[in-house]
Amino acid sequence: MSDLSGKRIVLGVTGGVAAYKAAELTRLLVKAGATVDIALTEAGAHFVGAATFQALSGRPVWSSLWDDQGRGMAHIDLSRGADAVLVAPATADFLSRLAHGMANDLLTTLCLARDCPLLVAPAMNRQMWHQPATQRNLRQLAADGVAVLGPASGEQACGEVGDGRMLEAGELLDALVAFLQPKRLAGKRVLLTAGPTFEALDPVRGLTNSSSGKMGFALARAFAEAGAAVTVVAGPVGLPTPMGVSRLDVVSALQMREAVLAALPGADVFVGVAAVADYRPAVVAAQKIKKGAQQRTLELIANPDILAEVAAGADAPFCVGFAAESERLAEYAEAKRRSKNLPLLVGNLVQHGLGGDRNEVVLFDARGAHPLPAGEKLMVARAIVTHITEMLICTA
Ligand code: C5P
Repeated sequence: MSDLSGKRIVLGVTGGVAAYKAAELTRLLVKAGATVDIALTEAGAHFVGAATFQALSGRPVWSSLWDDQGRGMAHIDLSRGADAVLVAPATADFLSRLAHGMANDLLTTLCLARDCPLLVAPAMNRQMWHQPATQRNLRQLAADGVAVLGPASGEQACGEVGDGRMLEAGELLDALVAFLQPKRLAGKRVLLTAGPTFEALDPVRGLTNSSSGKMGFALARAFAEAGAAVTVVAGPVGLPTPMGVSRLDVVSALQMREAVLAALPGADVFVGVAAVADYRPAVVAAQKIKKGAQQRTLELIANPDILAEVAAGADAPFCVGFAAESERLAEYAEAKRRSKNLPLLVGNLVQHGLGGDRNEVVLFDARGAHPLPAGEKLMVARAIVTHITEMLICTA
């Protein structure tokens, strides 16, 4: 299932240079399974022509209040049955007209006549963005329930640098997908660990494992999409932080434990996704260890088990563990769930999950084993979040 299959999105394009990103966004929305109706303002058409949007969306482009292409009531019909209206780019002028409830072109009229959520992605010069009038309009729109995506900061078409750059097409797609997920975890706080840990041997070497952090980050994103306030404590991984997620970077298991315990108060859910190194070198050499000896013995000491410690605490949150096994998954996973006293454990065979983009997992809880369909890690993460949400509702 694609992220937006079965969804109909009205994409409004107003007159800013960032309109070129709306063409890419159209392509991404269609690829994600959405039906996309484009409402292009007269100014928007000065930047990117209707033919481009028509080709990318595969549907007629709507531009004028006075040309309804035989549809009768385009200004009302277009947003009826739509899942969302997204205006990207949204210029300062458009935001101003929207904030004042004006209906002097097709796009503002259909925004006023809509019965679905409205999202806007502002795009303008940094000085226009910081003007009190623009900020006043933004506050009014937020108070009216309009979702404001971005803007980002950076280089602008005018040569200046600052706030007002429109988010990239991929970021807007992610934000829209997240927006459309049911917010069943609103008001909940979720803490996760993700990635490997790195246990130093000397200033340049250490013990680690091949965990990519992808499953933990996908779960962090899925929890955020479900409306939770999410913090991820991440070992050394080179992954971008999912939108709306707070991130604490750590290196070793001891640092991970410290960061988890500091962030724990108030958490409703704790998920240990990290592949925490079970052992660390007993001694960390201050200088690089030189080669020469034919044999070396490495003395290791056990790391604390972060998940077991959190689960054993007084007033522990709902704790979820992960178990990557290379054989006898059901037996080892269920034993781990019981020994760490967890309501839920996610088991996967290492050959299915570690490092890749897909995963296949089985959930183990007091009711038994629940295999989930194999899929992209984000899809699997959403299914795990749904299962956790249902367990939370049952135990509430
Ligand atoms: O390593 P093990 O298979 O016991 O890991 C199972 C679960 O325990 C995982 O969720 C992992 O994140 C967590 N864990 C931990 N601290 C450790 C070892 C494992 O939090 N030192």
